[in-house]
Amino acid sequence: MADRYLSFTGTAPGRFLTRRLGLPQPAPLRRDALDGGLLHLTAGKSDLGLAPVLARTGLAADENGRPAAVVLDATGVRDVDALAEVHAALHPVVRSVTTGGRVVVLGTPPEAADHHQAAAQQALEGFTRSLGKEIGRGRTVNLVRVTGADAVAAESTLRFLLSPASAFVSGQVIEVGTAAGEATDAAADGGITAPDDWELPLAGRTALVTGAARGIGAAVAETLAGQGAQVVVLDVPQAEDEARRAAERLGGTALALDITAADAGERIAAAVPGGLDVLVHNAGITRDRRLVNMDADRWSSVLDVNLAGVLRTTDALLAAGAVNRGGRIVATASIAGLAGNAGQTNYGASKAGVVGLVRSLAPRALAGHGVTVNAVAPGFIETRMTAAVPLLIREAGRRMSSLAQGGLPVDVARTIAWLAHPASGAVNGQVVRVCGQSLLGA
Ligand SMILES: NC(=O)c1ccc[n+]([C@@H]2O[C@H](COP(=O)([O-])OP(=O)(O)OC[C@H]3O[C@@H](n4cnc5c(N)ncnc54)[C@H](O)[C@@H]3O)[C@@H](O)[C@H]2O)c1
Repeated sequence: MADRYLSFTGTAPGRFLTRRLGLPQPAPLRRDALDGGLLHLTAGKSDLGLAPVLARTGLAADENGRPAAVVLDATGVRDVDALAEVHAALHPVVRSVTTGGRVVVLGTPPEAADHHQAAAQQALEGFTRSLGKEIGRGRTVNLVRVTGADAVAAESTLRFLLSPASAFVSGQVIEVGTAAGEATDAAADGGITAPDDWELPLAGRTALVTGAARGIGAAVAETLAGQGAQVVVLDVPQAEDEARRAAERLGGTALALDITAADAGERIAAAVPGGLDVLVHNAGITRDRRLVNMDADRWSSVLDVNLAGVLRTTDALLAAGAVNRGGRIVATASIAGLAGNAGQTNYGASKAGVVGLVRSLAPRALAGHGVTVNAVAPGFIETRMTAAVPLLIREAGRRMSSLAQGGLPVDVARTIAWLAHPASGAVNGQVVRVCGQSLLGA
């Protein structure tokens, strides 16, 4: 369903009218290329060694005072006084960041510090989220917390956040650890396996995406295949033809399987004899009703597909050793699981459960199997599912975010691809919203 309001506000009369009426002014997002260079700023005394990592991103240094990407290294902010340097660094440049540009603030985990440093580092979160809400023009603002002086561990994350791939990710706080437990057989640094080719990082890897016959899952399969992965397109037997066509297009294979089957994990393992490098739990359903009207079937079908199926297959695959070392598991939550949503007690419960699963399993899966476990939490994404939502609720879903528009399946897919990246071994246990900084539960 086309977003006519977004098209209208892109015209001169549309811009004039919506400004006069004080209506949201969404800017078309830059999903192809950023329009300008990189500006590297520092607040406090940093030991991060960020410059070589930023140089490798290939972004040219900003030369005309119109940066498309601004990185503020605030890892050296150790007290409230030093926050003045954050203001001093960004205040003069924020207006000149190009439309669809990126601001990334780097900090450290507040828990690890004394209470003065913790206060200053936590302040960066409120700062980042507030700037995201006011910056406008399709620009995004995110905070990356790094552990130790290890900019290399954050390289894949910085590349993602400073690229068009993160167009719909804003107002997020992402923690990057040190990837202890990761297999480090190839070119490795701090447990991070850097790919030979940043354009085809998944070459030689096998990725399985559940619910991939259509919608977001189809976009995920396409994106992962585009990055070199051999994809397995899994969907229910009723969608087998669609799944097979999608797999053929991508040079992959289809697997007709209901993820709630008791032996789903075993059947997946049998279908990928070489093991999986990337497992994306994307299959999901909604059966909306308010709790007073919700029968037990609506409740259990949603819990079964969205949560129990994910738990069962993950357990079975890990137990069978069918997820290779250095592997990536990415599950799909939802902002409804973080904020709650009327009419979705079943769905909200299932997606919150996914968050619980990810946070608990992540450290153990990394230590025991060398596998990371993360989640994406999409907000309003333009799919068949959201096209069926009544007009007014659909409009509210689209506009009630900092970017004032819905995301596209490719936005979720590219976020999953970053988490699935061989160099993302230090990103673990994270729940990253792909929601344009939706006001729901933010
Ligand atoms: N569209 C959004 O705005 C949005 C927002 C937040 C979260 N999500 C989540 O993203 C995921 C994909 O959503 P979508 O909008 O593309 O949905 P969709 O309905 O278009 O696609 C879901 C796919 O999953 C498959 N599927 C359903 N049950 C299955 C089962 N038991 N076994 C195997 N496959 C099964 C379906 O056949 C379908 O192909 C879901 O987990 C959904 O909850 C979507």
